[in-house]
Amino acid sequence: MEETVDIRGFYGESQLLYDSVLIEIVSRLNIIKKFKTLNNERDPIENVKTRIKSPASMVEKLRSKGLVPMAENIPGNVMDAAGARVICTYVDDVYEVAKILSAQQDIKVLEVKDYIKNPKPSGYRSYHMIVELPIYIGEECHRVPAEIQIRTLSMDFWASLEHQIRYKHDVPNQHIIASELRRCADEVASVEMNFLTIRDMINEIKNEKPNGGN
Ligand code: GTP
Ligand code: MG
Repeated sequence: MEETVDIRGFYGESQLLYDSVLIEIVSRLNIIKKFKTLNNERDPIENVKTRIKSPASMVEKLRSKGLVPMAENIPGNVMDAAGARVICTYVDDVYEVAKILSAQQDIKVLEVKDYIKNPKPSGYRSYHMIVELPIYIGEECHRVPAEIQIRTLSMDFWASLEHQIRYKHDVPNQHIIASELRRCADEVASVEMNFLTIRDMINEIKNEKPNGGN
């Protein structure tokens, strides 16, 4: 018989740690936005979303790893209980944000998966980092992991569309949809390179004119 898990209050005391690490990451990102704006530079971040993995998905993930589904088994086994998704404007903004976060001394980068340089077979593109931050709860310091996914608006649009069929079974014409999505992923990648070129051309024109072309 399948064991039952009470998912109410599943995370228990670790909920505070995951909430806090996301507050901390959002704060670091907001500071990036502020200093860019203050320096009259383009803000590379469009928006930031955060989530704590739902207890149901966490239970499933722990089980898939052969672990008893309880919060005590998360540390060291599941690193994406806390997740932040950073949406950037251009592809090079993704690398800039990743570089700034990685350079912050108390952020330890545990893993990087660059699905922009190496897209997934589905066509999925995004830059993933598993990081660990010190979180103070009262006087005690905890090192808390989180997954940060950084991608552009177009990559995010593609991922949301693909996500709608990813976990569906018995979809008619699934292989056609999958191959159309792969084709779109390639086109998006190519259009994004064009965006960069056009942006740089526009900037050159602006820089040639006094007062930034205004
Ligand atoms: P997980 O067990 O899912 O953490 O696998 P993993 O450790 O190999 O992580 P990976 O970095 O490959 O992917 C983690 C997350 O990235 C997923 O939970 C999704 O949010 C996203 N992701 C990865 N691949 C795809 C994909 O093909 N399509 C979409 N839409 N999202 C993806
Ligand atoms: Mg993962």
